[in-house]
Amino acid sequence: MYNKIKSTAAFLKDKISAQPETAIILGTGLGRLVEHITGAQAVDYGEIPDFPVSTVEGHCGRLIFGQLNGAKVVAMQGRFHHYEGYDMQQVTFPVRVFKELGVKRLFVSNASGGLNPDFEIGDLMIISDHINLMPNPLIGPNDQRLGVRFPDMSKPYDHDFMELAESIGRERGIVLKRGVYVGTTGPTFETPAEYRFFRIIGGDAVGMSTVPEVIVARHGGLPTFGISIITDLGFEGKIQEVSHADVQIEGAKAEAKMTTLISEMLARL
Ligand code: HPA
Repeated sequence: MYNKIKSTAAFLKDKISAQPETAIILGTGLGRLVEHITGAQAVDYGEIPDFPVSTVEGHCGRLIFGQLNGAKVVAMQGRFHHYEGYDMQQVTFPVRVFKELGVKRLFVSNASGGLNPDFEIGDLMIISDHINLMPNPLIGPNDQRLGVRFPDMSKPYDHDFMELAESIGRERGIVLKRGVYVGTTGPTFETPAEYRFFRIIGGDAVGMSTVPEVIVARHGGLPTFGISIITDLGFEGKIQEVSHADVQIEGAKAEAKMTTLISEMLARL
C-alpha cells in the first residue's frame, strides 16, 4: 500500500499548482461547498491511479484543489462508503494520499440521524467523539511508515478545532450541538430498536461514514474536525420513514451554515 500511496500522491503533485494544507471530505448534500473554492483545479477520481470510483447517487467523484477563504485546500467531492462494496483500505486510501501530499489536518462532514432527544432536523453537531461499529480500517499488517500498530484514540477529534467552531458559531449565530457519532456500515437505516440501542450506548447521532477516515487520519497523526448535519430523527415518538432523498434535501438546506462555518474556520487557522 505504501508504494501506491506514494505513486498516487506523486501523480497529483505533478498536476497541482499549490500544495493543500487542509483536506475536506464533503458528505451528502454538502458537495456545493466547492463552489466557494477559488483557483479550483479538479481531478476526476477516474483519472487518479488506484483511486476507487464513487457510485452512490448525489456524490460526484473528484478532488478539487484550490483556496477556500484564503486557505489552501483539497476537497473530496464524493467519498467512498463501505456499503458500496469498497474495503476499508479503499475507503480510507484518499486520507493516506492527502497525508502524503503534506496536508496538515482533516475536516469531515456528513449527514446523520439524531439520537439525542434535544436534537432537531437541520441541526449541526460537532463530532466530539465516535463509537466505531464498522470493521476497523487498521486491521491487517501494520506499516510503521504510516503509523503505529496501536494508535491512541483518547482525542479522536481536535479540541482546538471544536472550540474555534463554537466561537465562530456564537459570532455568526450558527447554533452548534456537540455529540458522539456512531458509525455503522449501513446501508439500511436503523430499526427503532437499533436507534434505541445506539442512544443507550452513548450515541447522539448515527451515520454510515466518517469513522474509518478519522481512524486513518489519527493513525497518520492528522488532527481532525468532524461535523454532522442531523437529517432525520431516531428517537421515540419522532421516528419517521427515512430515504436517501430526505437526507439529501435536509443536507442541502444546511449547506449555507456549513459553508460559512468551515470557511471561517479555515481563515483563522
Ligand atoms: N442512520 C444512518 N445513517 C444516516 C441516517 C440515519 O438515520 N441519516 C443520515 N445518515
